[in-house]
Amino acid sequence: MMEENKWFPDVEKIWFNGKLVKWEEAQIHVLSHGVAYGSGVFEGLRCYNTIDGPRTFRVKEHIERWRDSAKQIRMTIPYSDEELIEAINNTIIENKLESCYIRPLAFFGYHSLGVHPLDCPVDVVIATWPWENYLGAETIEKGVSCCFSPWIRVHSQMVPSAAKATGLYIGSMLARVDAKDKGFDEALMLDGLGNVAEACTENIFVVKDGVIATPGLDSSILPGITRKSIIELARDLGYTVEVRSIARGEVYSANEIFLTGSAAEIKPVREVDAREIGAGKPGPITKHLISEFSEIVKGENSKYSKWLDPVTKMSIQ
Ligand SMILES: Cc1ncc(COP(=O)(O)O)c(C=O)c1O
Repeated sequence: MMEENKWFPDVEKIWFNGKLVKWEEAQIHVLSHGVAYGSGVFEGLRCYNTIDGPRTFRVKEHIERWRDSAKQIRMTIPYSDEELIEAINNTIIENKLESCYIRPLAFFGYHSLGVHPLDCPVDVVIATWPWENYLGAETIEKGVSCCFSPWIRVHSQMVPSAAKATGLYIGSMLARVDAKDKGFDEALMLDGLGNVAEACTENIFVVKDGVIATPGLDSSILPGITRKSIIELARDLGYTVEVRSIARGEVYSANEIFLTGSAAEIKPVREVDAREIGAGKPGPITKHLISEFSEIVKGENSKYSKWLDPVTKMSIQ
């Protein structure tokens, strides 16, 4: 049975195993390995409508992380980088989108249902859709409310936690549901040693006395591409950025906190566990970074045009 496209009626096509197909026709078998075991790897990136037209943000880095994630779960994505970038561009163009969210996904497909996946085909999907204001439009002005989750971020000795693997998101899912149940917008997760790791789907930065700090890869975080961009941008702007372990107490006593992610972009945090952060509204460093970042993604800062790639029609579908 074809699934009607209820959620994104304006988006017509999905790239599925090498072809652009109708949204409703991108179908898999229910017993696919990736459905049964969460054995997939994915990406999330944005296309911005800049002053020079639609541009993807750091697409090559996203493809590289996608491939790194795949390698960590013993998967090979059966397309070249050029083919994947072409597929992304063609999907955006075919759907007549100027700014959108892009979701590349690869998973072990239908073959056998043993846990060993290496005889399964690898199914590859690229979907695009308009996705403004993740975590809510009002949170840019007002800030996000967070709580620490009772669920800890998966440790890299359990599973490769730096991989953006679908199965790992059960942790993020449970943490987000728990936060929402308690009336918060988002959850923060500690790592296996009790240090701060990240939010459910964003990295975290804390600011104290003008110094910006963010956890390192040894805190079981996803190596966020927005995180990497903000570290570079903040240092270029003259801020000190420390990449180090962060204790839970530092979060409560921070002057400012913000979250970064491709979907959320930069979101100020106004409270954590009912403690006001700074003045309970976006602080000056957070606002400065949001304003600089928004110029970059509009294509208005030529220093960072290296982060933006044109979306041009290519021959491969
Ligand atoms: C668990 C997790 N951490 C951090 C991030 C932020 O990463 P990026 O900035 O590359 O989107 C994401 C989103 O992809 C995520 O899912």
